[in-house]
Amino acid sequence: MTDQASPRPAGDGPYYDPYDFDIDADPHPVWKRLRDECPLYYNEQHDFWALSRWDDVEAGLKDHHRLISGRGTVLEFLKAGVEMPPGMILFDDPPRHGVYRGLLSRVFTPKRMNSIEPQVRRYCSKALDDLRGAERFDVIEALGAPMPMRVIGMLLGIPETDQQAIRDRIDSGLKLESGEMPNAAAAQSISVAAAEGSYGEYLDWRAKNPSDDVMTQLIQAEFEDHTGVTRRLSREEILGYITLLSGAGNETTTKLIGWTMLLLGQDPDQRREIVADPALVPNTIEEALRYEAPSPVQARYVNENIEYHGTVVPKGSAILLLNGSANRDHRRWGESADEFDIHRPIHHHLSFGYGLHFCLGAALARLEARVALDEMLKRFPDWTVNLEQSEQAHTSTVRGWDKLMLAIG
Ligand code: HEM
Repeated sequence: MTDQASPRPAGDGPYYDPYDFDIDADPHPVWKRLRDECPLYYNEQHDFWALSRWDDVEAGLKDHHRLISGRGTVLEFLKAGVEMPPGMILFDDPPRHGVYRGLLSRVFTPKRMNSIEPQVRRYCSKALDDLRGAERFDVIEALGAPMPMRVIGMLLGIPETDQQAIRDRIDSGLKLESGEMPNAAAAQSISVAAAEGSYGEYLDWRAKNPSDDVMTQLIQAEFEDHTGVTRRLSREEILGYITLLSGAGNETTTKLIGWTMLLLGQDPDQRREIVADPALVPNTIEEALRYEAPSPVQARYVNENIEYHGTVVPKGSAILLLNGSANRDHRRWGESADEFDIHRPIHHHLSFGYGLHFCLGAALARLEARVALDEMLKRFPDWTVNLEQSEQAHTSTVRGWDKLMLAIG
């Protein structure tokens, strides 16, 4: 593991590198320069293009014919030409994407997600009650990391005893070495073989012991596939779905909870307002999502020549849609775009993506973050963040904190 930043090309223009830890620590100044000085950016070192303004990113996320997901939406997977496993709708295109997404939305419904609010609340209450009297604690370890895993594990039907081991595997699959683009082996974490190792046993067990969880429903579902054949899902497809749900639903939500606690730890006035009026919690979560996107970069494969800002991006290129940057674009949000304001009217932000691939777990993530903040404020209305004792995570998919030490009171 090296902590050296990669060599940067000479010149005065902005330089953006998603693998550079220094940039990742606070990418907002660089993203602002990209938006203002080169709204279509090209990075020679890693050979990718990037769009950073709201209008371009929003349009790009909807442009699923020309900017496709089927070759991967993480830059290094796309570059390595890794074949995406079936069932991973995040890495799929129409018409198959629609069929797979339709099937998943049949079992992963808002009703099912909302029905688990009491369990989420019970879990958060218990985790925080155990900390009563503590002068400081790592809110990621105490709540932000275990809770989303517990919730997705519960929905999928994975035994509690195995959830931590699975989370650790996902975590280590995502970690980056500074300045380097990971090689194709990094995609191992999403391969069918890895999924078989993590979930194969449960799948066999669930097939023999059906319950009312998502895994059982996936095993039993009948559907018409994109070739018109009515059938059940293959083992590979179910493993793909499960890997996607546990991968997409864990780290992102952990990061959202971390950012929310950090932002409010640094802003006692707004925090006190929410304590006085908990009805502000949902908009606070939306503003935290806008302000620090937990998944700020979406890669796409350019499927035909496309002109942006007078330059043609050739077919076959990789392009990054910087949704974390678009969320701060003053062209969309006005001059206060860089302020964290819990009262900001937010019609929509791009932190859950947009268009065909809009996050299927958005309702669940919102619920988890809302309940976590609610229960936190009831017990610990005052905290500050000790950044020296905290650690930022560095991955090419999510951005946030691995450890966030709060000093209480
Ligand atoms: C704060 C938490 C979350 C954030 C920031 C987030 C972010 C995103 C984003 C940006 C996308 C679109 C990616 C693209 O366009 O390439 C996405 C898609 C997706 N997310 Fe989430 N997500 C979160 C939580 C969850 C949860 C809890 C689940 C489920 C358990 C989930 C499941 C999915 C799935 C299945 C997709 C793929 C949808 C498709 O391709 O049609 N996400 N998410």
